[in-house]
Amino acid sequence: TTCYLNGDYLPLAEARVSPLDRGFLFGDGAYEVIPVYSRRPFRIGEHLRRLQQTLDGIRLVNPHTVDEWAERIARIVAAAPFADQSVYLQVTRGADTKRDHAFPKDVAPTVFIFTAPLTTTPDSVRASGVAAVTAPDERWARCDLKVVALLANVLARQHAVDQGCAETILLRDGCMIEGAASNIFVVRGGVLLAPPKDRRMLPGITYDVVLELAAAHGVPYAVRDIAEAELRSADEVWMTSSTKEVLAITTLDGEPVGAGVPGPLAQRMHDWYQLFKD
Ligand code: PDD
Repeated sequence: TTCYLNGDYLPLAEARVSPLDRGFLFGDGAYEVIPVYSRRPFRIGEHLRRLQQTLDGIRLVNPHTVDEWAERIARIVAAAPFADQSVYLQVTRGADTKRDHAFPKDVAPTVFIFTAPLTTTPDSVRASGVAAVTAPDERWARCDLKVVALLANVLARQHAVDQGCAETILLRDGCMIEGAASNIFVVRGGVLLAPPKDRRMLPGITYDVVLELAAAHGVPYAVRDIAEAELRSADEVWMTSSTKEVLAITTLDGEPVGAGVPGPLAQRMHDWYQLFKD
């Protein structure tokens, strides 16, 4: 497939980045993952707004306007031989001639975009729901920024995979925060609960869509801290992300969540999401 690197469109296998790139040396960069349905990017404006927030948060000047980003993404999407895609874009602080923690002067950022087929969750997995485990959140204090320094998230996701599970739910200060690469919702007594968007979690684009759909369909919901005990005694637990959409978690640390099958609200939210994204 074709990718975009610093102004050029070229085969992914031919793209080259310097080993002195600060993304490689320091994880010094921002990224986004944008779902594309039938070659139409979903909520691209929101993703590019969040990219701007991340770049502001790490003091990296956005190398492109929204229109320039959209044009580059459109070209990558059009060139792909598959219609449903997951577009990855990354901006790092570029490659200096030496390794120094402080920002380099007069170094252009590295801009990279590529796309992959959007992997859909098999019907059988959707029907049974997935298993998750919990772990302490050992990440830094700016989890609202979508930065490429993802080692703690990598270790958290592998912790789940090692136990045959799909996700690790991170706990901090007695509260449920989010997954290693997803936001987490809880349903208790017919009320949808979502943790507040603060510096402890990534403000998910799918999270926003889910709350909008809840409001539109008259589902009662509250945005507030969710205690670990509330997570463990929830009727339903969901994970959401641009690539997983809305997926029910039916086992938590080996115990069934609610009835141990995807709950009624998870199924309705999934259906609403399918209608909404087209
Ligand atoms: N991850 N929280 C974390 C830590 C994430 O990495 C993600 C997404 C989300 C969900 O955000 P959104 O709904 O905007 O996709 C929440 C992407 C998909 C990734 O890193 O691959």
